[in-house]
Amino acid sequence: MTERIVLAYSGGLDTSVAIGWIADATGAEVVAVAVDVGQGGEDLEVIRQRALDCGAVEAYVADARDEFAEQYCMPALKANALYHDKYPLVSALSRPVIVKHLVTAAREFGATTVAHGCTGKGNDQVRFEVGIVSLAPELTCIAPVRDLALTRDRAIEYAERHSLPIATTKKNPFSIDQNVWGRAVETGYLEDIWNAPTKDVYDYTDDPSFPPVPDEVVISFARGIPVAIDGHAVTPLQAIEEMNRRAGAHGVGRIDIVEDRLVGIKSREIYEAPGAIALIEAHREMENVTIEREQARYKRVVGEKWTELVYDGMWASPLKRSLDAFIEDTQRYVSGDVRLVLHGGRATVTGRRSDVGLYDFSLATYDEGDTFDQSASRGFIEIYGLAAKQAAAREARAGQ
Ligand code: ARG
Repeated sequence: MTERIVLAYSGGLDTSVAIGWIADATGAEVVAVAVDVGQGGEDLEVIRQRALDCGAVEAYVADARDEFAEQYCMPALKANALYHDKYPLVSALSRPVIVKHLVTAAREFGATTVAHGCTGKGNDQVRFEVGIVSLAPELTCIAPVRDLALTRDRAIEYAERHSLPIATTKKNPFSIDQNVWGRAVETGYLEDIWNAPTKDVYDYTDDPSFPPVPDEVVISFARGIPVAIDGHAVTPLQAIEEMNRRAGAHGVGRIDIVEDRLVGIKSREIYEAPGAIALIEAHREMENVTIEREQARYKRVVGEKWTELVYDGMWASPLKRSLDAFIEDTQRYVSGDVRLVLHGGRATVTGRRSDVGLYDFSLATYDEGDTFDQSASRGFIEIYGLAAKQAAAREARAGQ
């Protein structure tokens, strides 16, 4: 029986050429796998047909938008996941769901190998391959761009020689990856890190220098997940989509950073994640009201580790799974409403309320109705500061 390879297929030039390129180089049959994670663009049926027209023996397409929002974006929201305190893991989150479908397709169509279109310099190759073997240790991986010398120029030449049904003329100066959680743009003139991004880089957000009138939005959370916006029930996918629209109109979530890739390279990235940034802002404040102090402090440490693991391609690792259990447990009372104002590139919290919160007006107030016994603080400080006081006294003695 002829060997089969499943290919992570985007419908674009490189992976369209990769179908024939891999078949020529290995003698295997290629099964194309396309996954909709909310990247927009072409219809899945159009992509399926193109894969078959480019020589795939089978094409597997999956609308994974709800699955991605519920099982990948929501855990990231619960973790307040921001790599380098800024990047909401857009690409890092989509790879594991694509991996899951690649593995499903490999089993369904009897493939032994998985192929992806990544170069040998980025994080995504690691995320795909570590992800694949973490779910299916029997599969092997190849990357035609990295392992089979498929360059851009050769791809264009190949597509024209074989009259593949794919445009070879459209020249985009950037490398772009996008899904419902956000958009990543790199390469081209952005590689000079002193160059400011120009207008054409952005697509999910409008320029915040010319904002429309402020937009006030109330997000309702239940156990860490947005369940309603302005009182209307939403699914996780709908919550992200609506916040992308509304926060995007105010230029919320534009990010420009040099980040540390897993492979050791520092790279310049422009991101747009209006929905993700607005939701994380609101979620953090919901946690401030509802999570006990020590649990909240420790959760920040756990969230940072979770974020690094996911960035580094360890979505399916045992430690990540253990941290998920911790984070999930912290969300038990993260329920209530947060009011945000979207304006001028920012999502600003202006109100919060919760039936299960720990904010106690009668303890906090400086006005009438104070129930806090201030006289108790004196003794507390005496004991709390004792060790520091003793150490300071010794410093003074030793100094003489
Ligand atoms: N640097 C980001 C990450 O590793 C984004 C990579 C996106 N890929 C792309 N072709 N632009 O998550």
